[in-house]
Amino acid sequence: MNRVALLGSTGSIGTQTLEVARHLREQVKVVALTSGRNAQLLSLQLNEFQPRLYHSLVPEEVASGQSILRTPEEIVADHQIDTVIVATAGSAGLKPTLTALAHGKTVALANKEVMVMAGSMVMESARCTGATVVPIDSEHNAIWQCLRGEERDSVQRILLTASGGPFWTYSEEQLKAVTAREALAHPVWPMGPKVTIDSATLINKGLEIIEAHWLFDMPYKQIQVLLHPQCLVHSMVEFVDGSVKAQISSPDMTLPIQYALTYPDRVRGPRRPFAWDTLYTLTFAEVDTNRFPGLRIACEAGYAGKTYPAALCGADDAAVRLFLHGAIEFPQVARLVEHTIAAHSPCDATTLEAVLGAEAWARDYVLTNHTKIRTT
Ligand SMILES: NC(=O)c1ccc[n+]([C@@H]2O[C@H](COP(=O)([O-])OP(=O)(O)OC[C@H]3O[C@@H](n4cnc5c(N)ncnc54)[C@H](OP(=O)(O)O)[C@@H]3O)[C@@H](O)[C@H]2O)c1
Repeated sequence: MNRVALLGSTGSIGTQTLEVARHLREQVKVVALTSGRNAQLLSLQLNEFQPRLYHSLVPEEVASGQSILRTPEEIVADHQIDTVIVATAGSAGLKPTLTALAHGKTVALANKEVMVMAGSMVMESARCTGATVVPIDSEHNAIWQCLRGEERDSVQRILLTASGGPFWTYSEEQLKAVTAREALAHPVWPMGPKVTIDSATLINKGLEIIEAHWLFDMPYKQIQVLLHPQCLVHSMVEFVDGSVKAQISSPDMTLPIQYALTYPDRVRGPRRPFAWDTLYTLTFAEVDTNRFPGLRIACEAGYAGKTYPAALCGADDAAVRLFLHGAIEFPQVARLVEHTIAAHSPCDATTLEAVLGAEAWARDYVLTNHTKIRTT
């Protein structure tokens, strides 16, 4: 039995993880659930799964039944937990991830900002205790599947696929007129608001490059992005002999979530598998970073290292919030992030304080300066 703590149970990945847990009742036991402010949904989940532990940012609003309130750090360190699924958004998952790894737990990671902000610390922490980090992000889960059974030295390149988001064909003028409502309608599957906007600006793909760099210990020059609007090839690995392995499946997050919980075993999933009786055309193209500078800006923060990626996360989080509240236009998200990174004074990303400090600084910088930056 895999005894799991699910952080971020009320979000898009969290609720799909519980769908997988329902389906895998014989293999997975939910021991703890944590959420942010959605007390109503957490109360329903606690009632259904009866976990021993829970956490909420608004515990007074939660109908917790027999479940005991604990901090996320206490929960992930609990000796009865084998796997911690980090499905929070933004920086919320960073501290619990490091604590879980320090206690030797397997961490199944969806919360990509954790790896972007502190990839070196996360992987070092895992190395120290022999803990494993398993990727849930569909591209990284695909790469992880392609790499299984292969020698590290035989890898030539990682090919990350990108849907291009809903505005891929838009002109610069059209992009200025994009509303939050339009941007929140992800073309392939419903996701949380932050990652949906990041997918539309392509900043998400830059975050994924940084995530892949740390997860697979791969130099940036060996990671390439390919536009693949059908979202069926979730990513590929090219080997030195020219062979390419691709992971293909329906665009459905329950598959990577389930595989992260059952590997190396494969079991039937809760939803319909890929339908080969339909004919598909698979296309791949280069990404145009002139109209979508978000990818370039995020990559540059990754190459620069130090606390630049943490500043990238803080700036992006604040800029996305401003866009969702109608305070800035869609193209301003990437522009604000770029300005903030240029203004950042970095330090080594070797402590939690440095990383969280840079993230908080960048968030404040965007909120304080966004009107000025918009007019320059
Ligand atoms: N959705 C996808 O298909 C997808 C795919 C690949 C990777 N990811 C990555 O997975 C992560 C989660 O994405 P999502 O789409 O599931 O996001 P989401 O729907 O916004 O869910 C975020 C979860 O985190 C909780 N949370 C937010 N802030 C918190 C805080 N300060 N403290 C504690 N809990 C907090 C939320 O709680 P409340 O709602 O209760 O406030 C919610 O349970 C992101 O990093 C995203 O990039 C998502």
